[in-house]
Amino acid sequence: MTSFVRACGLSELEEDIPKRVELDGTPVSLVQTEGEVFAIHDICSHANVSLSEGEVDDCHIECWLHGSRFDLRSGKPDALPATRPVPVYPVKIEGDDVLVSLTQES
Ligand code: FES
Repeated sequence: MTSFVRACGLSELEEDIPKRVELDGTPVSLVQTEGEVFAIHDICSHANVSLSEGEVDDCHIECWLHGSRFDLRSGKPDALPATRPVPVYPVKIEGDDVLVSLTQES
């Protein structure tokens, strides 16, 4: 079953500027880009680094430490050194609420 929790207000997000939130103790980076909002686990799969401190470009978020880029749609890295994907989570927008489900990884 998928249950969504409110992560933040849509108006709190700025285009291409990641926002870190904690949902049930899980760090999540919210990214509004290309007309959509994405939720990706906020820890790089290569080392314990916050992805929300990286840059967003072309529907990817770049780890600031070694430069791996993760696809915001799938969580897959497209450049070394990271080889494992980062979890991504379903997002729903209801009014000004950004809702994220941690129970079903997509
Ligand atoms: S810590 Fe993210 S690529 Fe190395």
